[in-house]
Amino acid sequence: MKALIPSGGKGTRLKPLTNTIAKQLLPVANKPILFYILDQIKDAGITDIGIVISPETGDFIKEAVGDGSRWGVQISYIIQSEPLGLAHVVKTAQDFLGNEPFLMFLGDNLIQGGIKSFVREFKHHVPDALILLKEVPEPRLFGVAELDTSGKVSHMVEKPKEPKSNLALVGVYLFTPQIHQAIAQIKPSWRGELEITDAIQKLLDMGREIRSHILTGWWLDTGKKDDILEANRAVLDEFLKEDMQGEVDSKSRIAGKVEISKGTKIENSIIRGPVSIAENCQITNSRIGSFTSVGAGSIIENSSMGFSIILENCRISHIERLEDSLIGRGTEIKRRQEGFKIIKLFLGDDARVEL
Ligand code: TTP
Repeated sequence: MKALIPSGGKGTRLKPLTNTIAKQLLPVANKPILFYILDQIKDAGITDIGIVISPETGDFIKEAVGDGSRWGVQISYIIQSEPLGLAHVVKTAQDFLGNEPFLMFLGDNLIQGGIKSFVREFKHHVPDALILLKEVPEPRLFGVAELDTSGKVSHMVEKPKEPKSNLALVGVYLFTPQIHQAIAQIKPSWRGELEITDAIQKLLDMGREIRSHILTGWWLDTGKKDDILEANRAVLDEFLKEDMQGEVDSKSRIAGKVEISKGTKIENSIIRGPVSIAENCQITNSRIGSFTSVGAGSIIENSSMGFSIILENCRISHIERLEDSLIGRGTEIKRRQEGFKIIKLFLGDDARVEL
C-alpha cells in the first residue's frame, strides 16, 4: 500500500506567510505539520510515500523532508503544475500510484491518535474506499456525507447549501484503484476544481462500496491562522513532554509542561506551560503564557504573550500583551520607549495588524 500527501495548493488564506513558506511546513509545537503526518503514516506501516508539490513551494518541502530516510520511508515528489483540486492531485500521481490501493492524507490536516486503526479496517474489509468523517457545527463549509440507516455512505456533496447531515469529510481517505475510473468520469466543479467529493459520489453511482468511520478525537484543518493556533494548542496539550535543556536563572519561574531547548536562556521570566521554546532563544524580563511556541533564535524581552506562535529569529521587545498571534520568521515588534505614541510599520504584502 502506498500513501499520497497533497502538499501543493495556493495557501491563499495564510498569506503573507505562504509567500515564503509552504503552509504544510508551518510549525505547531515547533515541528512542521507535515512531519506529524509522516510520523503517523510511518506508524501505520506505510513506507512508499508520494508528496504532491507545487512549482512555487515544492523546493521548500523537498529541502525539509529530503528522501525520507529520517523516518525510514521512501519519498517520491510529484509536481502538480496548477492546484486544480484533490481529484486532480490523484490524477497527477497516477503513475506513482499504479494499480495499488493507497492512503491519501492532506498535507495540512492533523488528526488525534493517528491512522493505524483505519488502515487496519481498510485492509480487513477491503471496501472500494474508506472515508473518515467528523461531526461539525458548520457542515456547509465542507464536503458532507449522508449515511443510510445501516451506516453505509449513501451520498456525498461538496459544500452543500442545505446539508442533510453534520458529517464532514476529513482529509484522510483510503482508496482502491477504482478511484481512477471514477475521477476519469467527473468534470470540474463551479470553482474549476476536480473535487474528490465528486469522485467519491461517482464511486457510489458506480455501485461501489464505501465504508466510513466517524472520528471522535480532534481533527484540525490548518488552512487559516486561527486553525493553526488551535492546532498548536491541541498538540502542545497532548504531545508536549517536559524537557529542560536550556538555562533558567534563579529569578525565573517555570510552571506546567514546558520544553526549553538547547542554547536557550531564560532570565527573570515566568513561563507557564504548555509552552515550547526552541533552540538558542533569549527570554528576558518576560512572561510566556500557555499554548505558545517560540521558534529558534528568537529574542523576547520585557514582553508578555499567550496563545501564539512565533517563528524563527523574531525579536519582540516591550510588548505588554501579545495574544492569538502568528508571527512570521525574522519579524521585529517593539514598542518605542519615549516620544509620541506613534506607530511605525514596515510590513510585507498581505500583512494583517490589529492594534
Ligand atoms: P486546501 O486548503 O483546500 O487549498 P489551498 O492550499 O489552495 O488553500 P487556500 O484555500 O487557502 O488557497 O488544500 C488542502 C491540502 O491539499 C493542502 O495541503 C494543499 C493540497 N492541495 C494540493 O496539493 N493540490 C490542490 O489542487 C489542492 C486544491 C490542494
